[in-house]
Amino acid sequence: MTQDALKAMAAQAALEYVTPGEIVGVGTGSTVNHFIRLLAGMKVPVKGAVSSSDASTALLRAAGIATFDASEVQALALYVDGADEIDPRGCMIKGGGAALTREKIVAALARRFICIADASKRVPVLGNFPLPVEVIPMAASRIARQFAAGVCGAQGQATLRLKNGQPLITDNGQHILDVSGLRITDPLAFESAVNQWPGVVTVGIFAHQRAQICLLGTPQGVQTLRFDV
Ligand code: 5RP
Repeated sequence: MTQDALKAMAAQAALEYVTPGEIVGVGTGSTVNHFIRLLAGMKVPVKGAVSSSDASTALLRAAGIATFDASEVQALALYVDGADEIDPRGCMIKGGGAALTREKIVAALARRFICIADASKRVPVLGNFPLPVEVIPMAASRIARQFAAGVCGAQGQATLRLKNGQPLITDNGQHILDVSGLRITDPLAFESAVNQWPGVVTVGIFAHQRAQICLLGTPQGVQTLRFDV
């Protein structure tokens, strides 16, 4: 089975948690794109979605699903999103699609966060995937030096993410640093520490906001992981 087929399986499994007529929180990425396609095919549709990126908003609208601004809703029953890495406690690295800030905002609105991913995303320790950090551009060099100096016992090399040879600009008008070489053994402490650095908009560790459930597409079927949050 291809990785994409495993992603589609996980997205299909998430549909069972969606209540028709509700507003659902929708993440970003290729796994979520399957979820959006499946949401659009529901017999009794959802009322709409709060989206975590301009890219997902465009897909939702093209699929005929109404989108609501995060500030228009007080709470969501459900947020569904992908991940770049998931550790044994359910802590995640996210932001491969540069949408990490809005993903944290929408996740914070939701009572239940369901992560959908293919089995390759499960890792013993976070950090093999370069950690995305959204930063205010004028702080980028200093933040890169701070990662090189080390945080919570982990040192990393930060690289400015480019698109077509230019710094990638996020939906929030900021830059992304991708930090490689990290081995994050205490994701909660790491997230708390980096959050304090001036100029950091969002660090792509989701430890304080872990998913309660992870639906993993595997060649043997969908595996459901439940995390105590
Ligand atoms: C986007 C994300 C995605 O959820 C993450 O990158 C996983 O993407 P994909 O589903 O394409 O593997 O955090 O910012």
